Amino acid sequence: MTKYLNFIGGEWKDSKNGAVKEHYNPANPSQLIGYTVPATADEVNEAVGQAKLSFLTWKQRSPVERGEILRKAADLLEAQAQGIAETATKEMGKRLIEMKGEVLRGAAILRYYAQEGMRKQGEVLPSANSQNTLYSMRVPLGVVSVITPWNFPVAIPIWKIAPALVYGNTVVWKPSQETGITAVKIAEVFEQAGLPAGVLNLVNGSGEIVGNTLVEHPEIAAITFTGSNRVGRQLASKAVAQNKKYQLELGGKNPVIVLEDADLDLAAKLTIDGAMKQTGQRCTATSRVYVEQSIYETFIEKLLEQVSQIKVGDGLEETVTMGPVASKKQFETVTSYINKGIEEGAEILYGGQALDAAVYNSGYFIEPTIFGKVTNEMTIAREEIFGPVLAVVKVENYTDALTQANDTIYGLSASLFTNNLDKAFDFIKNSEVGMVQINGETGGAEPQAPFGGMKESSSGTREQGQAAMEFFTAYKTVAITTNL
Ligand code: SIN
Repeated sequence: MTKYLNFIGGEWKDSKNGAVKEHYNPANPSQLIGYTVPATADEVNEAVGQAKLSFLTWKQRSPVERGEILRKAADLLEAQAQGIAETATKEMGKRLIEMKGEVLRGAAILRYYAQEGMRKQGEVLPSANSQNTLYSMRVPLGVVSVITPWNFPVAIPIWKIAPALVYGNTVVWKPSQETGITAVKIAEVFEQAGLPAGVLNLVNGSGEIVGNTLVEHPEIAAITFTGSNRVGRQLASKAVAQNKKYQLELGGKNPVIVLEDADLDLAAKLTIDGAMKQTGQRCTATSRVYVEQSIYETFIEKLLEQVSQIKVGDGLEETVTMGPVASKKQFETVTSYINKGIEEGAEILYGGQALDAAVYNSGYFIEPTIFGKVTNEMTIAREEIFGPVLAVVKVENYTDALTQANDTIYGLSASLFTNNLDKAFDFIKNSEVGMVQINGETGGAEPQAPFGGMKESSSGTREQGQAAMEFFTAYKTVAITTNL
């Protein structure tokens, strides 16, 4: 069984204390996939030291050279898409077709950032002193710590690592413990693309040891994190205490509103896609749907028609349309939310059960689940579930729907289905989220568009697109005084 090592200073290194973490397939938890080696604090310190050293030369390279390496990484990733996707599917359960799409998305993100380094990175400004030439320029921050989740084990790391590198930073990356093997595959791609030693370092391991050592390390200039609100908040307070720059992408409780004038077939399809794709394990997944009372029954019928087409099973099988949840912990969390929904008086309209363990190798399979008779006070309408569970709420009209949709601590994405232009524009203005869709799915993102949320869904920063430059660089203001 393969042992996947850490990548420190351009070398693949075993952990000195000999510890290993076992990785099992969530579709068949008795199947061992491989081992990763949790790094010790000393090994993390070594990775930071290597990143600091390589920063001195990496920042001197031109953006064209840096971009060329990203472009090569994109080609290699594309060429290895099938193998990397299979590894990730076995490691965290996402369907192979979805995982392959994600790997190709990773390649598209790399290509996008390969050229971003050549865009304008400053401005010439007027000066009060006629002998001054005054301008601003963007400079890299130094060593950036990249801390990533398991739900997008390829796309999220790449959308953080690619801009960090192209703007001249070096990186120490701590992936989720659930997807350490996939992370090794990604680091291999960067190595094969010719990234100089120490520019990207990968340290697998726990938040307690690897995460904390990184966050508290004096040579880490900035931390970019995607994950839970609980961990994000702890990380933010440590970063503030040390005056480090930080970026948090956190949870969502993303609503869809369906009005009576909407294309109901489209709305039902995209609501189910938004809720159930990737087994609902997306920060941008649809988890609440507010339906105008006049079309409530008709829309429920359409939702049921859509959801009944889903076939749950091992994501390596082509006919399967929804895979398992990623881990035992995730399985327990999602099933406990389903039980809470029932206890609090919501009505199961579809699903609600785990699949038969005897037939499904004790895999972490849960039926796609739809709850009706939900009110906004219920736990399933308020907390992020991160699983294939949709709460349907009947509302009086658009204004009622908007009020209830906004009544949440989260503000990541939201969607309105309507053909009424006035309501569409009102929603764009008044929906309290970072990403709005009209007649679209709440999930998904394009590399050139800013990604992130309002309220407790982010630290107010944005990822991807040119917005990434805001985080991964600092302004330097330059004044040149001459005698002319
Ligand atoms: C996420 O929702 O977790 C990432 C964004 C996406 O859907 O691509």
